[in-house]
Amino acid sequence: MIVPTKKLFEHAYGTYALGAYNINNAEQIMGLFRGNMNSQAPFIIQLSKGARAYTDKRLLEGMIRSAEEIFPEAIFAVHLDHGDLESCLDAITSDFYSSVMIDASDQDFDTNVKITKQVVDAAHKKNISVEAELGQLGGVEEHISVAESDAKLTNPNEAKKFIEFTGCDSLACAIGTSHGAYKFSGTQALHFDVLEDIQKLMPGFPLVMHGSSSVPQEEIEKINAAGGALKSAKGVNEDEFAHAATLGVTKVNIDTDGRLVWCRVHREFFKDKPAEFDLRGPGKIFMAEYAAYIEHKNKKLGSAGQLEKVRTFLK
Ligand code: G3H
Ligand code: 13P
Ligand code: ZN
Repeated sequence: MIVPTKKLFEHAYGTYALGAYNINNAEQIMGLFRGNMNSQAPFIIQLSKGARAYTDKRLLEGMIRSAEEIFPEAIFAVHLDHGDLESCLDAITSDFYSSVMIDASDQDFDTNVKITKQVVDAAHKKNISVEAELGQLGGVEEHISVAESDAKLTNPNEAKKFIEFTGCDSLACAIGTSHGAYKFSGTQALHFDVLEDIQKLMPGFPLVMHGSSSVPQEEIEKINAAGGALKSAKGVNEDEFAHAATLGVTKVNIDTDGRLVWCRVHREFFKDKPAEFDLRGPGKIFMAEYAAYIEHKNKKLGSAGQLEKVRTFLK
């Protein structure tokens, strides 16, 4: 059942975070739903602009609606990840999305406010909630490459003003994470003080952590042993999520880890079975392994085991 993102946040706030998983194809969708059902977790399925363009946004919508039928017990929200004005308005008019993210974080404060407000006004007319971003993560966001040195942490006082000016429903905060598989050149440094300060200023307001893949080292080693070349890849310590949830983080974005599972499964499969060429061989293994990964992650996020409680909450 597709539900409003806002409702999922209300249930989660202060206690656990929802996994927000990016998907691009049928195998990821099946693995994602199986993993969430196995761990009895509510979740957010998110589609980036790149995902919508990869095959066709209508194909993704059709597959997700089919998954909703195949897994009638599932409770989830559908979210547009890193939208611009055009893709947000398109998603809002499609009547498919529970929420959209407008990412104008590369703009100056006033322009970010102006664009975000435009999306909020359109979205709220349709009861769709809006995630906005203030501050800049490192790494690569869609087409914008932000050098680690240029990444700008979210300023809590600015965040309060931004939320009041725009009326957005949740805020992606830059706290030291970045997108992709190379998050930290040295040791991990997450700025939980930023979250603490925002929570003091805006108690109850849902916060979002982007760039939250943990880039498991055993996965990297297996990929490299099977012919990959992912050197010094590093991610977020997944044991930090429980603390982040108490500070108001209700949504944790994960994409890269799913890609690593895909990469490891396919590299190992074709290395071990060089005469194979049927995509369904590695596809089946990927779906099972991705489901197991989702189950594990939901336990770290605290969303595992929340499904029936959410169902009761939504009644
Ligand atoms: O933050 C970006 C997400 O990982 C989506 O990546 O734009 O390559 O689909 P993508
Ligand atoms: P990762 O690259 O760490 O998986 O982050 C994904 C993300 O933030 C999607 O918006
Ligand atoms: Zn992101």
